[in-house]
Amino acid sequence: MRRAAPTDEVLRASFGDAEALGDLPRYRILYEAIRQAILSQKLLPGTRLPSTRELAHDLGLSRNTVLSTFEALLAEGYILARAGSGTFVAHAAAAPKKQSRKGADAPRAAELSRRGGRLARFQGGPRLEIQPLTGAEADFTLFPMKQWQRLQSRRLRQGNLELLDYATKGGYLPLRRAIADYVRSSRAVRVEVEQVVLTAGTQHSLDLCAQLLGDVGDTVWMEEPGYWGARCIFEACDLKIEPVGVDAEGMNPALAPRGSRPRLIYLTPSNQYPMGVAMSLARRRALLQIAARERAWIIEDDYDSELRYSGRPLASLQGLDAEQRVVYVGTFSKVLYPGIKIGYMVVPASLAEPFRNALYDLQRPGQLTVQAALADFIERGYFGTHIRRLRQAYAERRETLVAALGGALGKSSQIVSQAAGLHLVIGLPATCDDRRLSALAAEQGTTVRALSDYFIGPAAARGLVVGFGYAPPDKLAYHGRLLGSAVRAVLKR
Ligand SMILES: Cc1ncc(COP(=O)(O)O)c(C=O)c1O
Repeated sequence: MRRAAPTDEVLRASFGDAEALGDLPRYRILYEAIRQAILSQKLLPGTRLPSTRELAHDLGLSRNTVLSTFEALLAEGYILARAGSGTFVAHAAAAPKKQSRKGADAPRAAELSRRGGRLARFQGGPRLEIQPLTGAEADFTLFPMKQWQRLQSRRLRQGNLELLDYATKGGYLPLRRAIADYVRSSRAVRVEVEQVVLTAGTQHSLDLCAQLLGDVGDTVWMEEPGYWGARCIFEACDLKIEPVGVDAEGMNPALAPRGSRPRLIYLTPSNQYPMGVAMSLARRRALLQIAARERAWIIEDDYDSELRYSGRPLASLQGLDAEQRVVYVGTFSKVLYPGIKIGYMVVPASLAEPFRNALYDLQRPGQLTVQAALADFIERGYFGTHIRRLRQAYAERRETLVAALGGALGKSSQIVSQAAGLHLVIGLPATCDDRRLSALAAEQGTTVRALSDYFIGPAAARGLVVGFGYAPPDKLAYHGRLLGSAVRAVLKR
């Protein structure tokens, strides 16, 4: 008996469409034709298919071709064979019903966890293409590549098999020792080598702190404006971020929401990011007192304190703390290069073992050969020499930029950041739309970021974050002048 016309027609049409796919074997064309007809619901679940003999005849194929196609579709669950009654489209093969408009927009978000969705929406840091005035970028041409190559090759030539293993116990001991000596003498950090834990940079250190010291929903105080990288980690760890305003003395705890009880306090006291202010002694004491009272942990991110161009180096907050509530976080990203991915923490003695163990269990860290070369680099004095060279070069660049900005700087547009780090901040009047100014500068070929972009809540200050580390002085001078005229043009209006 002949089957109802629609199924035959659908199969014929689909077969014609599938032939257009190109030079495929006949069974493959038929397979695609039936599969597509099922997935697009032209053939509905329960539909009886023609017999293999009928279909072969109808489409001008050999019966074997149709048999092997049916076999494949049966094996993959698109069709079912019922003994004595024929072959049918399987119910499980039906594509889900078309979603409503609202649902159709949702799948990507729905596939992520709630946390994943939040992270996907989070714009993160300045993903700008690096350009002469991009903030916080270093100049790799200043890196002593030859020395580094020699130290790395020497370590590899030695062929020490132990260095190929995972890094246990917080990392390569001689590097931890060298770091302890360095931060003790240059940053007045109170440290024994057992307290030093090597990580894959600040992001990794913050992640460990958030995971080991905070529970879901715990409050973390963050500087406002503040570091987007830290915010991203705290969001990912489901902490409740409370932005606390920054003024000329650093984070001001009086600006925290009333009754707020932090579990973690994230700070950049040596060079507040991005405002570039150093935290006053009074504020340091006040925050240490709050940490002691609340049994909160302070995370001191000391990311670029080597780069100060006037005055004496600042002592760390950790060194002032008698209660052991501070985790001191350092990195080689700024003073060597970010891709080295080596950072470190000095944790209170009571946390040393849990941190070392968690580091091992969560990450299985390695990179002992690079850690060994870095220990050599520090022990031989190359690190100290390199830092002195960087300081000199970046201080000159900062001066070049300030001179180029020249007339743009005045009463209403002053540099509000200290002479440190790799960027400066031009403060602007509260009425100035800094995002528009940044867009205007971009049209003229100079990329700088608006200070407003660094706030979690409404921007309480306006300004521009302008890098001077990346470009050589002639480019800095050129782009500084361009930026200066954009600032002048906007402030005149
Ligand atoms: C405030 C702050 N902390 C830390 C870092 C460095 O992070 P990492 O060690 O993960 O490269 C940066 C880099 O820009 C930074 O701005």
